[in-house]
Amino acid sequence: MLKRVLEYAHVLMQTAIQPGETAVDATCGNGNDTLILSQSAGNKGHVYAFDIQTQAIEKTKEKLAAASCTNVNMIHDSHENVDHYLPEDLKGKLAGAIFNLGYLPGSDKQVITTPDHTITAIDKLAQYLKPEGIIVCVVYYGHEGGSNEKNALLNHLADYDQKYYQILQYGFINQKNNPPFILAIEKKQVPQK
Ligand SMILES: C[S@@+](CC[C@H](N)C(=O)[O-])C[C@H]1O[C@@H](n2cnc3c(N)ncnc32)[C@H](O)[C@@H]1O
Repeated sequence: MLKRVLEYAHVLMQTAIQPGETAVDATCGNGNDTLILSQSAGNKGHVYAFDIQTQAIEKTKEKLAAASCTNVNMIHDSHENVDHYLPEDLKGKLAGAIFNLGYLPGSDKQVITTPDHTITAIDKLAQYLKPEGIIVCVVYYGHEGGSNEKNALLNHLADYDQKYYQILQYGFINQKNNPPFILAIEKKQVPQK
C-alpha cells in the first residue's frame, strides 16, 4: 500500500510535470530520474540534467538514446550554477526538479553531493517553480558526510516561509541502516489580492 521512497519520488514528479513543460534533474547519475522527467515532459517539453562526473553524463546520454529521448540538455557542471543554464523566462514556470543526494552507485564514493551546493541549487530552483511545481530531494545519508548534509538541509528548509511553500518529509521510521527519505518542496498558489 505505502509507496517505497524512490517510487513515491517518481509519482510526485510524474504528477507535477505535464507534457510540454520543463523540468530539472540536478543529479543525473545513471539517468534513471532523467528518463522519467524526459518522458513526463514529452516531445514538446524540455529537461535540463546536471552532473559533475563525466561517467554520469555518458551513462545518462546512453539511457536517453536507448529510449529515443531527444528533449534533454545534458550539462556537465555543478547544480549550484543552475541559473547559468535556465532561461530567465522560465521563472514561475518550472514544473519540477529532482535531487538524489549522496554518491553515484558503482563509482567513486568520495564524490558526494555537499550541503552548500545542494542548498544553493534548491534556493535558486525554488525561484523558477510554477505554482504547484515541486522540488523532490531523495536524501541518502548513510555515507560519510551524509548526516551533515541531511541536517543542514532540514534546518534550512524548516525556515522556508509557509505562506509560499509547503514542505513534506516522507520516509519509513522503522527501517535499519539509515534508509533514504524524501523532502518535497511545493510552491503554493498564492491568491492575488
Ligand atoms: C545518488 S547519485 C544520483 C543517482 C541518479 N539520480 C540516478 O537515477 O541514477 C548522486 C549524483 O550527484 C552527482 N553530484 C554530486 N555533486 C554534484 C553537484 N554539485 N552538481 C551536480 N551533480 C552532483 C554525483 O556525481 C552523482 O552522480
